[in-house]
Amino acid sequence: SQKKPPKKRSTKSKDRSQATVENLVRPFILKDEDYKRLMEIMLGEFNKGLGKETNPTAKVKMYPTYVRDVPDGTENGNFLALDLGGTNFRVLLINLNGQEVTMESKIYLIPQHIMTGTGEHLFDHIAECIYKFMNNHDLLNQKIPLGFTFSFPCKQMGLNHAVLTQWTKGFKCEGVEGEDVVRLLHEAIKRRGDIDVECLAVINDTVGALMSCAHSDRECAIGLILGTGTNACYIEKLENVELWDGDNNEPKQVMINTEWGALGDDGCLDFIKTEYDRQVDKHSINPGRQTYEKMISGMYMGEIVRLALEKLRKHGLLFNGKGSEELSTRGRFYTKYVSEIESDVDDHFKNTKQVFEELALEKYSDEDCRIAQYVCSLVSTRAAFLAAVGVATLLNKMERPDVSVAVDGSLYRFHPHFHDLMVEKIEQLIKPGLKFKLMLSHDGSGKGAAIVTAVANRLRESQSE
Ligand code: GLC
Repeated sequence: SQKKPPKKRSTKSKDRSQATVENLVRPFILKDEDYKRLMEIMLGEFNKGLGKETNPTAKVKMYPTYVRDVPDGTENGNFLALDLGGTNFRVLLINLNGQEVTMESKIYLIPQHIMTGTGEHLFDHIAECIYKFMNNHDLLNQKIPLGFTFSFPCKQMGLNHAVLTQWTKGFKCEGVEGEDVVRLLHEAIKRRGDIDVECLAVINDTVGALMSCAHSDRECAIGLILGTGTNACYIEKLENVELWDGDNNEPKQVMINTEWGALGDDGCLDFIKTEYDRQVDKHSINPGRQTYEKMISGMYMGEIVRLALEKLRKHGLLFNGKGSEELSTRGRFYTKYVSEIESDVDDHFKNTKQVFEELALEKYSDEDCRIAQYVCSLVSTRAAFLAAVGVATLLNKMERPDVSVAVDGSLYRFHPHFHDLMVEKIEQLIKPGLKFKLMLSHDGSGKGAAIVTAVANRLRESQSE
């Protein structure tokens, strides 16, 4: 299903330039054997993260969460949830009543200076948003348990103890790495003194996606995010988790937050990196980190495409060599453009032309549209196939006959072919006899957090009886 390159043009000189377009973007096209090799690398890295001796030097950390089981559907009550780490910061109020779930939520902006400011400032801001939300919903005189979806790598010491190991994506707040984010949240709440909120659980967004889907589908055993960042969690047998230090009660399994975005940070993906990937990394706020994530997720995909388009333009192969300030601006080619351009199905190129207009490009031909579309399809296909390698590796490792994969994230949601490309590649890569399906997970970060919090709350109430 990979797009064919645009048709060759007729004159000789143009034929030559066509060949150059091909040459410049060829590194995005990986061979079947590359994907097979990646599967082996990935399995090796997963096992390294799970092993007690190898974990300290592993780049893929495979963090045990303290979430042991999928919901049984009897969870109920009112819960608050915080969702930090995706496109938006949200506060939610969720009511669980068996299979019925209702929720209200509000998006609050986190200004750039807070994302890269001090941790204290960040948590004060979060506490203020909780206050505003509770005030607007007339909840100030109630005590409602809160679940925190905090979508960054954390070493967990319990359901509500999570130490941030490293910021990822666009965040870089001082004084949070190495700290328990629940403690920081509680301190900020205490500093205000006007809300009575206790955080009972902190989960990763992948766990939220898994829990939310598992609420209606008991086969769900993998949670996958393809959004600003990428990551997956899955259900692992306790005997395979050497670092597990919790109890050994039933069920003898635990969800593992793989933090697979860091795959390649030791150089093991260098054989597939392109010059465009290296540039994206170099100008990111975390150079050398999140290598796999940078080749796949929404925070970076548009920029990879932009760099490739710029390169073609500089060689006179696009827009007659004439670009625009916008096209030359880092970060200005949004990943949603990739989805829009690839959604054009005929030769009118309606979306593609719209994107060109937004980028203030003055003169473009249909051939330019075709080339831009081709570049987008190469970059997004590579991303979908790379993500498929991750899922296939997990499926082969788990060896469950039938697994539902809960998927969330803006990239997966809005890209016209991501789902189909992933299914195609996973089918090629899994062991014969295994079955899977990719399901869109709705509002995992809210619903999932509420479900985990409900279980924690029930446990706490039964213990205090
Ligand atoms: C980044 C975070 C990870 C999260 C993912 C998707 O990779 O480190 O925790 O799950 O983004 O939001």
